[in-house]
Amino acid sequence: MTERLLRGRVLSFRREPAGPADIDALDWHEDGAVHLRGGHIVAMGDFATLAAKAPDVPVTDHRPHLITAGFIDAHLHFPQGQIVASWGAQLLDWLNGYTFPAETRFADPDHAERMAVAFFDLLLRNGTTTASAFCSVHPVSVDAYFSEAERRGLRMLGGKVLMDRNAPQGLLDTPQTAHDDSAALIRRWHGRGRALYAISPRFAITSTPAQMEAAQALIAAHPDCHVQTHLSENRAEIDLACALYPEADGYLDIYARYGMLGPKALLGHAIHLSDRERAIIAETGAHPVHCPTSNLFLGSGLFDEAALKAAGATSGIATDIGAGMSWSMLRTGGAAYAIAQLQGRALDPLRAFWWITRGNAEVLGLADRIGTLEPGTEADLVVLDSRATPELALRMQAARDLKDELFALLILGDDRAVVETYAAGSPVKPRT
Ligand code: GUN
Ligand code: ZN
Repeated sequence: MTERLLRGRVLSFRREPAGPADIDALDWHEDGAVHLRGGHIVAMGDFATLAAKAPDVPVTDHRPHLITAGFIDAHLHFPQGQIVASWGAQLLDWLNGYTFPAETRFADPDHAERMAVAFFDLLLRNGTTTASAFCSVHPVSVDAYFSEAERRGLRMLGGKVLMDRNAPQGLLDTPQTAHDDSAALIRRWHGRGRALYAISPRFAITSTPAQMEAAQALIAAHPDCHVQTHLSENRAEIDLACALYPEADGYLDIYARYGMLGPKALLGHAIHLSDRERAIIAETGAHPVHCPTSNLFLGSGLFDEAALKAAGATSGIATDIGAGMSWSMLRTGGAAYAIAQLQGRALDPLRAFWWITRGNAEVLGLADRIGTLEPGTEADLVVLDSRATPELALRMQAARDLKDELFALLILGDDRAVVETYAAGSPVKPRT
């Protein structure tokens, strides 16, 4: 069983910080260490204390770098790595013009396997150790996704998208095959090693009512699986969804009618909501997911995290690759800051770091396993160099405190700031 002490400046979150000065929310050790054994964290604290207790354990010295929990991406698309930066369209045209043709290729297991290697390389380069991904409609895409994640020892969530209309023939399933294929994939993957299955009706526009019933049956039969979809991202999308489900009282109500809302539900985008919809999201315990760079890229709108929080909902945060503009959760946190500024608020850097680690773990219901450096949790960590680039180094010359350093990482950082990524206790950052 491999065992090591990582030495560095150790940062973990006990809870959501109430503001930029809320240091009680942190575990912070300037000369700290994290003791890893067999894929788990067994201790976190001051280096001197941990080294004295474990004198024979080899030390990997990451000073002066920061050691924190691996980043978590609460929503992205496995088959969309090759359509990042596709020009000139908003949501529905972007789906038809770029996304659906790219996803059609994932019927081919060789292509899916090649793309899975590239996908996890990029996540790990960027310090992301857990993500919740939509695979394509094809079960082979899910096999490629989870097989590669398993090979690398990663805790990953994902599932095949359900879609039986309004897409090219090569991307359509049926209510019956969507149900049966998903059920078989759940049996094959859910809870195998670190894999967790997410039942994934893509969105109301690409599922008939009969398929939504099939999704409802799956969700009822597998209450321990997550459920992920898209909600109220774009005005034209909302109008079309409501036209396809005239009996529903708005877009969210479509999902409510098919039993999709609950604490396991992840609602991507959730931008254009009424007060009533925000209240329903909060009551059901469902989680909106903020996709800041994607919402800017597709011109979708500004996610109102403050209004959702005031209503009692807790939101995740995500890249939404391939509409997202960056694979980096640092950049994603930085974009969330910029969007909050457009709404007259300043997202504080402690809270942004909490959000991309423990906050997303809480949204996924996994904070007892990932998202912190607490003993007993899984050893998924990231090591960050706050001076990795000339612009970071220059900024850091004038940084006054940890808050300034974290903010510089969020605004200027990306994969270049990631010195190492650890998954289940082993270093896994790909070297190119
Ligand atoms: N809505 C339905 N499918 C998608 C997708 O793949 N990306 C985004 N951004 N929105 C969607
Ligand atoms: Zn999405």
